[in-house]
Amino acid sequence: MLIFNRQEDLKKHLMSVTKENTTIGFVPTMGALHQGHLSLIEKSLTENQVTVVSIFVNPTQFNNPEDLEKYPRTLEKDTQKIGTVNKDVLIFAPSVDDIYEGKTIAKAFDFDGLENQMEGKHRPGHFDGVGTIVKRLFEIVTPTNAYFGEKDFQQLQIVKKMVEKHQMAVNVIGCPIYREANGLAMSSRNERLTPQQKEDSSLIYKTLKTAKEKFGTESAKDITDWVESVFEKNPEFKLEYFQIADEAQLLPIDKKDTAKKYRAFIAVFINSIRLIDNISLN
Ligand code: PAF
Repeated sequence: MLIFNRQEDLKKHLMSVTKENTTIGFVPTMGALHQGHLSLIEKSLTENQVTVVSIFVNPTQFNNPEDLEKYPRTLEKDTQKIGTVNKDVLIFAPSVDDIYEGKTIAKAFDFDGLENQMEGKHRPGHFDGVGTIVKRLFEIVTPTNAYFGEKDFQQLQIVKKMVEKHQMAVNVIGCPIYREANGLAMSSRNERLTPQQKEDSSLIYKTLKTAKEKFGTESAKDITDWVESVFEKNPEFKLEYFQIADEAQLLPIDKKDTAKKYRAFIAVFINSIRLIDNISLN
């Protein structure tokens, strides 16, 4: 398998294996790959002639130094997992220096307000970091199609907005959330959970599913109060936010508009591990 640690080497290789009409599929990741990532890679392989996977823990999108320090780094295991899917996948695993060239800072982005809701509100600067790295990676890889999981639905909308605003020639494709058998959304951070915490965290998706049932008949305020009461009764969790918002603008729902699509979004801490999830309500 080919692993590139320097952007110049990857660019050179891509130049040598692509022609004008070659399609490049791209799966950006921070490693600690799980089945959700592998499904994105499989989709890219079926839809493109060349697939690139980046593995890079991006420091500028972490607002919490402990989260950055403890983020799992498992390059060897990740490479093996990709190899079980397809050995022709190109892996891009650069160093911080190669990407940021001595200035590890995020650029400021305007995502038309999408950045001010939920994750953006609770993780200041996070989406500037995401915008900075995804734009940089798109410039290096020049993908035709880029694949993102819907677990980070706000990130997906923000990347689409960035591509639109910067007129980048890449299709951003959202893919369904992969879940453990107990419903817990797959996430690299799950590696930090004990088996018991993993089991207990099934509460998050169970709560989202009940919120979806309630959405047919109850107000967003009543549903939010109910979700808060669920987590108050389970003190090993700390609910950071629960929000019902429209998919396009991510604004908290005011009154239901049948023309809009809605989602319920949640962020929960178990110990110091932060888990997010969401569910479509339409
Ligand atoms: O979703 C992620 O893993 C990261 O935010 C991404 C898109 C790879 C950027 O660092």
